[in-house]
Amino acid sequence: MCGFIGYTGAACALDTILDGLSKLEYRGYDVSGLSLLLDGQIETLQGERLPSLTERAALQPQLRQSLCGIGGTRWAPPHGANWESCGVPHATSRLALVHSGILENSRELRELLEGKGYTFQSKSDCEVAAKLLDSLYAGDPVKALAQADSMLEGSYALAVLFVDQPETLYGIGKSSPLAIGLGEGESFLVSDCSALLGHTQKYYALEDGEIACLSPHQVQVLDSEGHLRSKECKTACKDLWKIQKGEYDHFMLKEICEQTSVLTHTLRPRIYKGLPSFEMDALPEDFFTRYTQIHVIACGTAMHAGTLGKDFIETLAHLPVTVSLASEFRFREPVIPKGTLVLAISQSGETTDTLAALSVAKSQGVDTLAMVNVPGSTMAWQADYVLYTHAGPEISVASTKAFMVQVGVLYLVAIEFARAHGRMDDAQARDTLQSLLEAIGSIGQVLNQKELIRQQAKEIAPVESIFYIGRGLDWPMMMEGSLKLKEVTYIHSEAYAAGEFKHGAISLVAPGMPVVALATQQKLIPQMLDNIREISARGGRVLTLCRRSAAIDDEMSKHAILLPDLDDLFMPIPAAVALQLLAYYTAVAKGRDVDTPRNLTKAVTE
Ligand code: F6R
Repeated sequence: MCGFIGYTGAACALDTILDGLSKLEYRGYDVSGLSLLLDGQIETLQGERLPSLTERAALQPQLRQSLCGIGGTRWAPPHGANWESCGVPHATSRLALVHSGILENSRELRELLEGKGYTFQSKSDCEVAAKLLDSLYAGDPVKALAQADSMLEGSYALAVLFVDQPETLYGIGKSSPLAIGLGEGESFLVSDCSALLGHTQKYYALEDGEIACLSPHQVQVLDSEGHLRSKECKTACKDLWKIQKGEYDHFMLKEICEQTSVLTHTLRPRIYKGLPSFEMDALPEDFFTRYTQIHVIACGTAMHAGTLGKDFIETLAHLPVTVSLASEFRFREPVIPKGTLVLAISQSGETTDTLAALSVAKSQGVDTLAMVNVPGSTMAWQADYVLYTHAGPEISVASTKAFMVQVGVLYLVAIEFARAHGRMDDAQARDTLQSLLEAIGSIGQVLNQKELIRQQAKEIAPVESIFYIGRGLDWPMMMEGSLKLKEVTYIHSEAYAAGEFKHGAISLVAPGMPVVALATQQKLIPQMLDNIREISARGGRVLTLCRRSAAIDDEMSKHAILLPDLDDLFMPIPAAVALQLLAYYTAVAKGRDVDTPRNLTKAVTE
């Protein structure tokens, strides 16, 4: 993923662009750069993360004179490439260009341009687009952009500076967001309106093929022939401004705390007269009766949501569900029987492993459904059907609210499969949905225990290694809790099915060994309590997360977090919130870079 901002006006272009990039970091933060028009030349500066770009810029005070420029930010370069060669923007002697999105025919265009004598330093699409435009430019930016647009395939947005067009910015896009921000005596060209935060709420949204031509006092939107188009000025909705951290110290905490509202936002439109309704998703009428089994493909947190979903669907609908790690599935020759629905789950919709697994599934001729959060993402395009999860932009790298909405939609899907396969009548489906809504309503009770969870987190912070154990639905839940802890705290953490613990791992329990135990499943609480006692008897330090009604003894309750009492099936909802908070506060106690942990990217696209 990548994002960009362009600026022209009376203010310092450098500061405005750096500020805009800081708001776009959730679209990628490994590589950033900017190009500024200054004294009839283009100055380009690139860095790794934004702080390094800012430091480099500070060493060149003359750059602050520029009033017009573009900047971009993106995830890590492909393996084996250095960030300099993949940097954004890409400049030639006559122009500089930033882009967002994906060019599908960049290989063909590269060959074409090589034939014309261009050489390439990188594999980046940005360089291809810049050199293509350079090859087409003969003094008329609009003509060159229109021509380039007719040759580029894929979904992309471009922002361009031409060395001989002072104070002017140009842009064009196809199937990828591009907006012009309208300020007083200044204007902005952005791939994402969040970059306009703090500058203006007024904007034009560009349609495919429209060409933006921006100078400080004039904004024009032209068609490919150069004719002026009239545009409706829009006002960025308040939600856009909510992308800021607001009162929260980190996006991760903000995103944990907004889970009640994102779940409601995602599920409410899919409930009609108390029953699941997927009308807004345009699924065929017979969709839920068509399949005899489901195969989930996903990575990381999304795979954990899928593993919980397996339990929901098997319990409610009695349909067999297989869950595969997309990174394994894609390299196997999987047997996918006829009548299988392959369900790809992904927040970003861009994860390479899941996309590749999806394509393996498609090659076998089965139906595919993508459950994704990012509208218009590649997975949404490639699958036969799509269910959007509507969590809004998830900025913290550690996924929290996106996981929660995946789980929420999986409950709905399970109920609908159960109805369609005659496992539930309408009354039962309504009751089950009602229990789901009550579970969502219980999230606040867990959030109210933040302080207690923060205290427990302080005890975990100094440890080097920890176990997370659970049974039944609590096992995949602990896989997710453990992943959350390790990614944001860098503490080694391992999730175990509690019943399996005594088959080997218990030998690691020595005095002081920390273990987090989740005990929410009514029918499995006696077995979990046995596990906890076994570990405590060997000197292990157990933090127990359990439903309020579990009969735990005084000793256990000294280190316990009590969760609301719900139907077993819905306990993952409050449990997830508690585990996310535990990971978050442990990371804070360790002084970690909570929202952007080392070595991780929001979308693993290489
Ligand atoms: C963990 C996390 C990752 C992602 C995984 C898949 O917090 O975010 O494990 O879940 O990389 O990403 P998506 O869902 O975008 O396919």
